[in-house]
Formats: sequence, structure tokens, C-alpha cells
Amino acid sequence: MLKIVEVGPRDGLQNEPAVIPPAVKIDFVNALSLSGVNEIEVSAFVSPRWVPQLADAEEVFRKIARREGVVYSALVPNEKGLARAVSAKVDKVSLFTAASESFNQKNINTSIAGAIQRFLPVAKGAHDAGMTLRGYVSTAFWCPFEGRIAPAAVIEVVERLIDVGVDEVSISDTIGKASPDEVGMLLDGLLSRISTDRVAVHFHDTYGRGVENVLTSWSYGIRIFDASVGGLGGCPYAPGATGNVATEAVVKALKSKEETVGVDLEQLANARRLLDPFLSEERRALPRGGSLACATCEF
Ligand code: HMG
Ligand code: MG
Repeated sequence: MLKIVEVGPRDGLQNEPAVIPPAVKIDFVNALSLSGVNEIEVSAFVSPRWVPQLADAEEVFRKIARREGVVYSALVPNEKGLARAVSAKVDKVSLFTAASESFNQKNINTSIAGAIQRFLPVAKGAHDAGMTLRGYVSTAFWCPFEGRIAPAAVIEVVERLIDVGVDEVSISDTIGKASPDEVGMLLDGLLSRISTDRVAVHFHDTYGRGVENVLTSWSYGIRIFDASVGGLGGCPYAPGATGNVATEAVVKALKSKEETVGVDLEQLANARRLLDPFLSEERRALPRGGSLACATCEF
């Protein structure tokens, strides 16, 4: 089954310079819940010193109106994050590590092996609490510090995450630099190790190739797509990286392949509009559904 995972409230808002009031985030998530997306990544139970924009994760989870059939997920980096997620009654938690050591160190302050060790008790605790578990692999194509990442390094991390017990992996182009050929090259190796229905793809759109990469993944049988309404997003620890591929653009592209996508574009626009007064100038200037491409980044 095709799934759209709306990551705007987490990936979209973690990189906005302004801290958006929790009441606005709650309205935003509630509006997204009515749009027909399958899953909403609501927030992150990370250190508020590292990502102050999402320090209100508990309040947002407590006050959203959950819609039956929609999965409400959050990022969790460690056991402390899991304890917070369990008390917030999160449906699904996402562990996150990377295929490059330098990015991992900058993002979660440990090595890849250190992250995997950290995840073992988190995965057990999440499953004991009845939650499903995703594992992100960041920098799956390019790293802002190390350049091109070999598919073998990505597959190695995917295998470690499967050993940890994740139900699904999300292959992430953190800096939005992958080409469709590079996506195909990785999927060629990866899909003989893990079944297609356990793989999600998470494209940022820095070079404007997010939609092409979604369609390439779709042609390989991938059916779980992360996207962010209006192309919001970026990672504070990946310099120059811009937003996720826009949900609106992904929905339109998949419809062009005659997929049935039960997402209402009008309702997505209603959700996105709620943020207008709070977004940075450059973000507000974007056309609806457009992404912020990076004209100056050098990676
Ligand atoms: P650390 O400083 O090494 O952690 O950070 P620590 O265990 O030494 O703890 C330091 C302090 O943080 C302590 O507080 C802990 O209690 C607190 P103190 O005693 O000093 O007052 N702390 C926490 N507080 C609340 N919740 C927690 C938590 N953990 C520790 N869970 C840590 C390590 C992992 C916590 C930190 O590096 C961190 O939070 N990193 C998150 C960075 C982040 O969120 N990045 C963006 C998301 S990833 C992304 O965007 C990529 C993705 O979209 C895919 C893609 O596009 O590639 C997913
Ligand atoms: Mg991301």
C-alpha cells in the first residue's frame, strides 16, 4: 500500500529560525490529520539544547486530536527520548543514524557503532511498549563533510538497524544531492537484503531532484515516501541542506503514475497556510508546494 509520511511538523520546523508556538503546531498537525496522509512525524524527543525548536514535543503530542488510521510518530535518539515518547503515547518511534561518521558525530554526538549500541535498549523498550520502529539512515548518498557515500556503507548500516529490530528503514538524502542514477545504484544493492515494503525514501530537494528521485524509487517498487508540505525542512547539523521534497509535488507525481493517493491537496494547503505568519521571509516567498533550492551551497 502506498504511504505518504508527512514530516513537516518535525523536519520542516526543526530548522526554522523562529520558534513556532505550540498552539500553532497543534493546529498544523490537526489540519494535516484531515488531509489523508498516512503518517505524521509530529516532533522529536531530542535534547532541547540541540534542537530548541522542538522542545515542546510533549505538549504538542498531548494536545493534538488524533485521527483514527493516522500514525503519529517522533524521532527518538536515546533511552531518555524513549521515556518521553512512551509517556506522550507516540505510535511509532524513529531512531536515526547515518552512513557517514562525521555527520553522525555532528548530529548525535557519537559514532555509528555508538549509535547502534545506544539503540538496542531503545528498540526493545519501544517494542515492549507496543510501538513500531523506524530507523533513518542519513547521508545515504552524499555527506556534507565526506562527499559521496558508497552504497556498501549504507547497506551495512541498514543491516545493523535490522539487527537492532527496526520494522522499517528510511533511506535519507540529507543534503538533497542524489541523482536518480545514484538512487537506482543504491536500491539495486539494498533491495536484495531487505523487502521493498520495509523501505521508505526521504529526499531533500536542494538540487530540485526530489520528485525525480521519488519516481525512480517508485519504479523500484518503493511505496513509502517521506515529504513535507510546502517543501519545509532541513537539518540544523547539515549546513546548506534545504527542505524535504514537497508533499504536494510527490502526490501529483504519484498520481501521474495512476497511483491512488488519498491526499487532499486543498487540505494540505490549508495546513501549510497556518504557518505563514511564522515562517522566515525566504520560506514565505516560495510558491505553494515549491521547495527552497540552495543556490549557493557547494556540496
Ligand atoms: P549529548 O549532549 O551527547 O547527550 O547529546 P548526553 O546524553 O551527554 O546528555 C546531555 C544533556 O542532554 C543532559 O542534560 C541530558 O539529560 C540531555 P543535562 O544533564 O546536561 O541537563 N538529554 C536529553 N534531554 C531531553 N531529551 C533527550 C535527551 N538526551 C539527552 N532525548 C543527543 C546526544 C543525541 C541527545 C543530542 O545529540 C541530540 O539531541 N541530537 C539530536 C539532533 C537532531 O535532532 N538533529 C535533527 C534530526 S536528524 C535529521 O534531521 C535527519 C533526518 O531528517 C533524515 C535525513 O534527512 O537525513 C531524520
Ligand atoms: Mg530530513
